[in-house]
Parts: sequence; C-alpha cells; structure tokens
Amino acid sequence: MAIIFDKQTSTFYLEGKSYTYAFFINGRGYAEHLYFGNKIGRDPLFFSRLCDGAKSFAAYTSDKNGKSYSYNSLKAEITFFGNSDYREPTVCVEAENGDRLTELLYSSHTILKEKPQISAMPSLDGGETLVLTLEDKIGGLAADLYYTVYEDTDVIARRIVYRNIGQKKLKLDRAYSFCLPIVGHDYDVLTLRGSWARERTPQYTPVHIGVCSIDSKRSSSSAVLNPFMALCEKGTTENHGEVFGVSLVYSSSFVLKAEAVENGVLNILGGINDFGFSWTLDVGCELESPEAVIAYSAEGLGGMSRAFHDAFRDHLINKRFVKKSRPVVINNWEGTYFNFDNEKLKAIASAVANTGIDTFVLDDGWFGKRNDDRSGLGDWFVNTEKLEGGLKAIIDHVHSLGMRFGLWFEPEMISEDSEIFRAHPDYAIGVPGRERCYSRYQYMMDITRPDVRDYIVESVTRVLRENEIDYVKWDYNRNVTEFYSLSLPADRQGEFSHRYALGLYELCERIVEANPKVFFEGCSGGGSRFDPAMLKYFSQIWTSDDSDAEERTRIQYGTSIVYPLSSMSCHVSVTPNHQTGREAPMKTRADIAHLGATGYELDTSAFNDEDRVLVKAQIDEYKEMESLVLEGDLYRLLNPFDGEFFAFMLVSKDKSRAEMTIYRRMGRPNESILPVKPLGLDSKKQYYVPELGVIVSGSTLMNVGIIPKLPKEDFVSYKLHFEEK
Ligand code: DGJ
Repeated sequence: MAIIFDKQTSTFYLEGKSYTYAFFINGRGYAEHLYFGNKIGRDPLFFSRLCDGAKSFAAYTSDKNGKSYSYNSLKAEITFFGNSDYREPTVCVEAENGDRLTELLYSSHTILKEKPQISAMPSLDGGETLVLTLEDKIGGLAADLYYTVYEDTDVIARRIVYRNIGQKKLKLDRAYSFCLPIVGHDYDVLTLRGSWARERTPQYTPVHIGVCSIDSKRSSSSAVLNPFMALCEKGTTENHGEVFGVSLVYSSSFVLKAEAVENGVLNILGGINDFGFSWTLDVGCELESPEAVIAYSAEGLGGMSRAFHDAFRDHLINKRFVKKSRPVVINNWEGTYFNFDNEKLKAIASAVANTGIDTFVLDDGWFGKRNDDRSGLGDWFVNTEKLEGGLKAIIDHVHSLGMRFGLWFEPEMISEDSEIFRAHPDYAIGVPGRERCYSRYQYMMDITRPDVRDYIVESVTRVLRENEIDYVKWDYNRNVTEFYSLSLPADRQGEFSHRYALGLYELCERIVEANPKVFFEGCSGGGSRFDPAMLKYFSQIWTSDDSDAEERTRIQYGTSIVYPLSSMSCHVSVTPNHQTGREAPMKTRADIAHLGATGYELDTSAFNDEDRVLVKAQIDEYKEMESLVLEGDLYRLLNPFDGEFFAFMLVSKDKSRAEMTIYRRMGRPNESILPVKPLGLDSKKQYYVPELGVIVSGSTLMNVGIIPKLPKEDFVSYKLHFEEK
C-alpha cells in the first residue's frame, strides 16, 4: 500500500520508493500540505505546520469552533483566489454573475488500486491513486486532485479535473495541474532553454520573492523552454542535494512557475498556459488538466534524472518498443535533402546492407509535387515523377536487402501549393480577413476540427495500408500563428491551444496506436517538441537537427536531465558537419551517437569497403551495449557546459556491466588529464576493465578513477567497459 489515510488525524501519507508526501484536511476543510521529502514514519506532523491561526495583517476565515485560518499562510495543496489567499492561484474561475472568488473545501476522497487514464490525453500508466475531491458549493466548482504513487520509482503524478457542479455556466481562466509547496527559499530554479539546433541547455536562476516563470505560447512545448522545472537546493551537484523536478506530460502552450512567498514557502505550480486561455464549463461538464510528473531526489540532479528515466521507461513509453532493440536506421535526409530518385535511394540502402543498419528511412520529398520545401505538404500520395514505380519499387528493394522501410510524414502541415489547400483553403489555421504567417513556406492544419483530423488520418493511413511500412518519422516544422479556429464560436476561441493538443493526441491515437506494428519516431525540426506526451506515442524523438558530435554532447547532456537516453534519436552524420562545418573523427561521431537510439544519416552510396567494415564494427559494439542505453542507469560524470570534457556512465540495474564514454573538445599540449571517477558501480563487486587489462573492485575504481587515454587531436572520445568477474 502506497497511500494511507489516517482517519484520526485526517492525514494522507503517500509513499514512493524513497519519499513521503503528506497532507491533511484541516478544521476549515482545506487540504493543507505537511511534508514532501525523504521517507519518514507515519507520525502526526502537525508540529511542522508553518502557521496555526491568523497572523497580523492577514485575512482569515474560521471553522465552526471559531478557530481561524489564514489560507495565505498555509502550505496548500491547491491555491485559489478569493478570500485570504494572495498567492498565484492554481485555478481562476468566473461565474455568470461576475463572481471570481473560489474556496475549495474537502468533500470526499477515494483511494484506487489503479490510476484511471485521462480520457483524452497521454499520462503515466498504473499506480495507486488518491482522488481528493474539493468543492466550492457557492461557486459551483469541484476540483478532483489526483495523486498517483509508484512504489518502484521516486515520482508522484498529479493532475486536477475541474467540474461544473452548479446550475450555471462557468468560465475557467486558469486551470493548472498541480500546486506543490516547498519550505524555504534557498533553491535555484533549473530549466532547459534553447532554440532550433540548440535544444535543452540547462539554465539556473536563483529563487527570489515573487514569481520565476517559464512558458510556451506556441501551441507546442517548443525548443525555447522545455515543459520542465526543477527546484534545486543551493549547492546541489550531480550527486548531492535535494531536488524537486516537475515534467509536464503536455505538448501545447504550458506554464510552470515557482513563487516564493513572504512566509518562506516556495510554491511550484503550472499546467496549461493561461495566457490567451479560457474554457467554458457548461453545467455538468469537466476539464481535465494535463498530468504533471514530480520527481523527488535527495541525491542531486542525477537522482532526479534517474527517477524520471525510470518512470518514463516503466510507465509512459510504449511497452512494445521501449526496452526492445531499436531499429538502426540509415536516413537519407542529410545525404540527399530533396534531391533524390529511386536509383540514388537504392544505392544508399545497398551500400550499408549487412552492416547492422537494418532500416532505411525515406525522409521528406517523396510525396505530392515536393521538390523543395515550398510545396506538397498535405498531399500524402507518392511523387511518381521523382519515384518511378511509386514507393513499391524502393520498398521492395530495401526489403530484398533484408532491411525494413521507414517513411517521413508531417501530418499537421499544409502547403499553399498543394492540391489539398487548393481544394480546402479553410483547412489551414487562420483568421478570416487576416494574412497568415508563413514558416518554412508552410501553414498548419486546423486539427482542432474533426473533419480536418479525418482527412489527415485517412490520407496518412492509406499510405500505411497500401505499402509495407515498418517505421514512420512524424515531423512538425513550425509553430502555430493566427490562433483561431473556424469551428469555434467567438467566446470559445480561448480554447484553441488546448484543443490543438487534444486534436494532436487524437491523431496519434488514430494513426500511431491504430498501427501497432509500425515503429514511430517523433521529430519537430529536430527536438522542438521533445516532451513526455509525445514520448507516449513516439518511443524515440529526433533530438536535434544539429548532428555535430561536439554540439550533441551538450544537447544530449541537457536532454538527459529529464529524458532517458533511449528516447533520444542520434545519428552519425558526415564530416565536415552540415550545421557547423566542424570536422570530427568517425569514432567520436559514432561514440556520441551511440549514447542514444543510434542511426546513420549521410550519403552512404559513396562508402568504400573500409567504411562498411568500420560501420559494421561500430554497430556490433553498439549492439553489445544496447541494453545499457535501453534499461541502464545514467550517471553524468563530466559536464560539457563546465569545461572541455563530457562523460557519461551507463550502468546495468544489477550493476554487473557498465560503459563509460569520455569526450574531449580541444586538446592542449602538455596537458594534465585528471582521473575520471566512475559512479554507480557496486563497490564490493570485482570488475574486469578490458581497456586497462585489469580486474579491480568497484570501490577502487570509483575512488581512484581512471585517466582517459585520449589521442593528440581535437574532438576525441574514449570508451571503457566494466564487466563483473
Ligand atoms: C526537419 C527534421 O528535423 C529533419 O530531420 C528532416 O526530416 C527535415 N525536417 C525534413 O524536412
């Protein structure tokens, strides 16, 4: 049992692998937070309350015994605006008479053995779940607070369902997923910022009185700020310090906030971005907020990352694929861009047959009249002028080589120069009378509309039905502008961005889930929509359009803060690199790309026998260690944002095998290279390290460290293996 209710004290104890989360229902009926941290006994915790009674200059309410409560001074499971609370509200609601006050009081609770899935949105599976129902009887609003606890991981999943229980319409102006109070202000806020080709760079901001906030207003989670925030105790390192991390299972406009308030409490809250948002809640109707996955770590950032990785691998990503050996692809994009024909594609595939590359992925340019990025999106039928004999000719060839076939789509997009746009210009998002913005010369389909979704599902599914396709890369290369749907009435346009997410998830259900044998990879001009909701459908996501190994050390490092290595699609590309012009040895490019779901993306038709032998050896080595990428624990040893080195250590769950990859940016003459200390090994086990030719204990290895043998070159890598003896 992970959730315990103590009737005598009205206290809920929620117990994960190594944390306790506790709150109680106080005399007024408020859900008052008590504790979240390292696992503790199920003791009464009232002594830990920050405030019992009203403080001076605080507004207060009282219970039936006359005891007063200043909500503003309490640690609250949900904040709301109206009586004595001046903090950032978790929910804002307006009644028909203009009443914008809210007071949510305990009504009931149930403890469920298994979490009910959110009906229209992806979420983690399983887990014992507490549903706490709070009601504002005067306002006619109920809030069901969901808490899901996993005994095998250090995350707690939270969300809130808002219901209209009154007799009149309500308008929600804010409907966040959770509120979590932490005690103390000695924290730094960690977020992941970036842009196209520079995704997920860690960024720290000190907490200050007021609000630290990150968001997206793009109807996409975006590369600019990932839907993730962590509160790190001052001085936190990779392996030490208390960290509270939040990752939203959401792909549209979001907001995450950390508000430090006067009494020393730090509230973390967020969910759907309330900028430009409003949602009409008719009588008897409800709005489900997206799930927030909250990780707790007393072992620094590394502990938080491992908690997220385990939770996403065990409870979110498709069980059919998540821990199975991944396709090793050859993708033609950087090899040809739009400039290909059947013969070129066949040559690229043939050149790598029998090397271990097992899937040929035909990227953008195979459909409609698409010879550059100005046309064809939405016309999901083959460009027979370019591909004589249709897709069948190339698919048959790829299959004859014993390889699988993958195909690129961008289902949410529409080109002005396309048959579908000429027939249905209204399918494109836009406001009547206003010019539409282009981005990469394309518009976006209004997938809030059921008829548009039907068109997409039918046209994409027809291609999948009529051809033997084993793999799909689902791309998304721009963000929404002109937020408006022709199908929504004027007073519901504020629902657009959330409805975009709901439309996207429905598309994924009808295309991805309806084709269970096809392996789907997500993409958004690289990693611009890398979020847990997308991972539910896409077991891996193209991490970045920047395939340069040096850049990738940073991008993969930042991405690994939240996401498991197996979710990152990483390719070996040509040198000099197309994005940076930088030259890096083939070994380095492979060593870095092999720290994820690996593949190759270059014109292999130029390969000679030596290249083929090299690629085969690289893939053999990758396959040997692939289980560590799929299931192992990640220890980040050296941070490429802090110096010239990058190092990752992958350790099997039973600690019998491990692999360390070390990379150095620039070499320097007469350099002192310090030992790199492995982490995560069993100190009592003996390990054989083939590269050193020694058998040594885990304790010795982790304390003494290993000096990497790096050649005199820039951008070089070195690998070490550890096998239990
Ligand atoms: C952006 C993706 O990230 C690339 O890998 C490639 O698929 C292009 N789109 C194709 O247009």
